[in-house]
Amino acid sequence: MPRRQRVLAVDVGTTKAAALVAEVRSDRDIAVLGIAVTPIAGVKRGLVVEPERASQSVRDAVNRATSMAGFEPVEVAASVNGDHVRARVERVTADVHGRSVTEQDLEALSHRAERQNGETGWESIRVMRGSFELDGMSSAGSPVGLSVQQLTMECLVVSAQSQQLRNLRRTLQMAGLSHPYWIPAGLAAAWGALSEDERQLGVVLLDVGGGTTQVAVWRGGLPRLLSVVPVGGDLITSDLATGLGVVAAQAERLKIERASAIGQAEGMVELKSVNGQTVKLVGLDEVSAIVEARVDEWLTMVQDALKTISWTKGPPGGVVLVGGGGLLKGMQERLERVWGWPVRLGAPQGLGGLSDLVKSPGHANVVGLSRVALQDGLGFRRETGWTRLLQGWLRTWS
Ligand SMILES: Nc1ncnc2c1ncn2[C@@H]1O[C@H](COP(=O)(O)OP(=O)(O)OP(=O)(O)O)[C@@H](O)[C@H]1O
Ligand SMILES: [Mg+2]
Repeated sequence: MPRRQRVLAVDVGTTKAAALVAEVRSDRDIAVLGIAVTPIAGVKRGLVVEPERASQSVRDAVNRATSMAGFEPVEVAASVNGDHVRARVERVTADVHGRSVTEQDLEALSHRAERQNGETGWESIRVMRGSFELDGMSSAGSPVGLSVQQLTMECLVVSAQSQQLRNLRRTLQMAGLSHPYWIPAGLAAAWGALSEDERQLGVVLLDVGGGTTQVAVWRGGLPRLLSVVPVGGDLITSDLATGLGVVAAQAERLKIERASAIGQAEGMVELKSVNGQTVKLVGLDEVSAIVEARVDEWLTMVQDALKTISWTKGPPGGVVLVGGGGLLKGMQERLERVWGWPVRLGAPQGLGGLSDLVKSPGHANVVGLSRVALQDGLGFRRETGWTRLLQGWLRTWS
């Protein structure tokens, strides 16, 4: 029987922990074997601030996803969220002296790019290869096997603050998960929701979470931008709670059921005051004004993140919205009006197994995590009786 390639993907978001068990299938891309999502505490704007509290949700999500799958993969891929994640463009050149370029040459260039301009207190978590120049001429595709004198690679080096990575590592450890394979959340979301055609043509991906928005741009099949805006849907909820004098749970319900990113507000809504004693009538125009103001501010920040990218006629693949915050009514229309580009709501596609359980835009991240990890060759290590015992023990006692 061929060896199975299986991985556990864990997304520690601001509002929820998601765990997914996936396996490579020959007929379909990957199959989902287990999935669970649990509300989380101890995370602010994508940063773990209380590892102990956050680890309880991670443990719960992992337990549920792995019991659904019926086993626990040894290898774990985890997303790195938050605005302590940065991506910088680096250009590195090597003399190849006329011989054929090898994969080792590219790896050596990646290592140099990682070290170049690295800052203390920051750790590089991924080098995303971009375009190449062969003897000064730009080249599409991989240069492996081509003979050149000089090879230049442009890439995105993604790094995260060491302190934040330590907190995340500790959270996972307390949930019984060791040696995580880090994947930037923006990259994961892109692999969870974009098609190959979109990545080739040029596309803007927005993963609107609770505390952050991951902004990613793909063009010519390559990543051109990965940026994090420290604003997500939760600020709309807190604005509504403060502005209307209601509790957070009511503000959240109001946002999901009645709010819209485009001011189409007529009528009234009945809300309970914070003390729960009195009921008041609030105009939907007031709700709209609060939501629109925050969406405006968010838009300015996203535009700012995108300003280094120039398009002649906008991204041919348009804009793809994922994440729970992308579900806000009127978001697509609002963005289409402002940018004049087509906007669609993205969701994981082309999956086998329990694909019906992961078809919402909020699952793009955790699905993409498993896809990137499996593509990178993770998931061949077999679980042994001992590792299974150890994992169970850690989870019970930590
Ligand atoms: N139907 C909906 N309409 C509007 N907002 C929604 C809806 N469903 C979920 N949300 C909002 O989506 C946000 C959570 O999204 P998501 O689960 O993608 O965040 P996260 O991954 O936990 O956070 P982050 O990526 O910022 O770390 C919350 O602000 C929630 O209120
Ligand atoms: Mg998220």
